[in-house]
Amino acid sequence: MSQVLLPRPDTYARAAAAIASGQLVGLPTETVYGLAGDGLNPEAIARIYATKERPRFNPLILHIPPWDLEELAGRELIAPTRLSPRARATIARLMTAWPTSLTLILPRGAAVPDLTTAGLDTVALRAPDHPVAQRLIAMTGPLAAPSANRSGRVSPTRAKDVVDDLGDGVDCVLDGGACTVGVESSVVHVQSDGHIVILRAGAWDPKRLQALGQAPAAHGDDLPEAPRSPGTGSRHYAPQTPFFALPSPIGQVDLRDWLGARTAAVLCWDAQHVAAARKAHPDIHALALDADGDPARTARALYAGLRHLDQLDVDVLLVEPFPPRSLGQTGLLHALGDRMARATRPWVP
Ligand code: TXA
Ligand code: MG
Repeated sequence: MSQVLLPRPDTYARAAAAIASGQLVGLPTETVYGLAGDGLNPEAIARIYATKERPRFNPLILHIPPWDLEELAGRELIAPTRLSPRARATIARLMTAWPTSLTLILPRGAAVPDLTTAGLDTVALRAPDHPVAQRLIAMTGPLAAPSANRSGRVSPTRAKDVVDDLGDGVDCVLDGGACTVGVESSVVHVQSDGHIVILRAGAWDPKRLQALGQAPAAHGDDLPEAPRSPGTGSRHYAPQTPFFALPSPIGQVDLRDWLGARTAAVLCWDAQHVAAARKAHPDIHALALDADGDPARTARALYAGLRHLDQLDVDVLLVEPFPPRSLGQTGLLHALGDRMARATRPWVP
C-alpha cells in the first residue's frame, strides 16, 4: 500500500524525488486531492491515465505557481500570439486572482506534451491555493493533476480517499487534511472577443467571474468559438452503488414496492428531514451532511458523504431533491447541482 505522509521537509523531498523519476503522488489542493505527476514528462502522464483508468481523450490540468502571461510564454507553456488583445486583457485580469480554484484554458505552448492536453491545441492551467501543493510545485515544476479518483467516480477530499481509490498506483500521498473547498475548480475559456465561457461549473462564483472577466463588448465582435471540455461527460462523480435522485423529499415518496427486498440509504440536505425519513422509512439509513444550510459547508462535506454512503453496503442510494430550500443562493449551487445531476439517475416508480 502507498504511504500517507504528513508534509515535512523529508516527505516533500521524497515526493519531489518520486515526481522526478516519473512516479505519481497524491496531492492535496483546496478543491480536491489530485493525482500528480510531472506535467512535462509523457511517461508520467501516461501513468496518470493508466492509474485513473481515464480515457485518453480527456486532457489534464497543469498546476503551476501563479505565473503571469509573460512568464508562461517564456516557459513555452502557452502560445500568446494566438490570443487576441481582448482575450489577453480578460485573461490577465482573471489571473490576478491566482492562486485560486480557477482553471483557465489557454493556447498551448511548445513545452506541453501532446498527452497532457489529449492532443488539443489548448492547455488547462491552474495555480492551486494550498500551501502543500504550492511547496511541492516549487520543487518539481508544473504538475499534471486530475482528481485522484478512478475515472467517473467521486473525487477524493481526504488523503485516505486517495489510498482507497488508487492504492499502489501512487508512490505516496501528502496529507494536507480535508480539502477546504470540496468541489473542483471552475474551468473557464476566454473567447477572442474577451467574453468568458464556463466549461465546468466549480468552486468560483459565476458572478465574481463575470465581474472580473467581462470585457467591454464592441461592434463587429467575432462569433463565439465553440469551446470543448472533454471531461464533462454525463456520468461522473458517481458512487459505485446505483444512485437515484428523488422527485420530492423522502417522507413524501412511497418506496415500498419499488424497493422490494433491497436495502437503501438516503442523503438528506436538511438535518430535519432525517427524522421524517426515519419515521416514514425506518429501514432506510438516512444521512444528512453536517452543513447547517451553508452551501460552502455542503460542498466541503458532499464527497466524503457520498463515499460514506457507498461504504454502507446497501443495494441502492437515494438523494432528496437539489437544491433544497434550506440552502441559500450562492454560485456554489451551480457546481453542486451539476455534480448531483451527473452522479444520479432519476428515480422512476
Ligand atoms: O479542482 C480541480 O480542478 C482538480 C484539482 C486536483 O486541481 N482537478 C480536476 O482535474 O478536477 P480533472 O482532470 O478531474 O478535471 C479537469 C477538467 C476535465 O473536465 C477536462 O476535460 C477539462 O478540465 N480540461 C482539461 N484540459 C482542457 C482543455 N485543454 N480544454 C477544455 N477542457 C479541459
Ligand atoms: Mg475529475
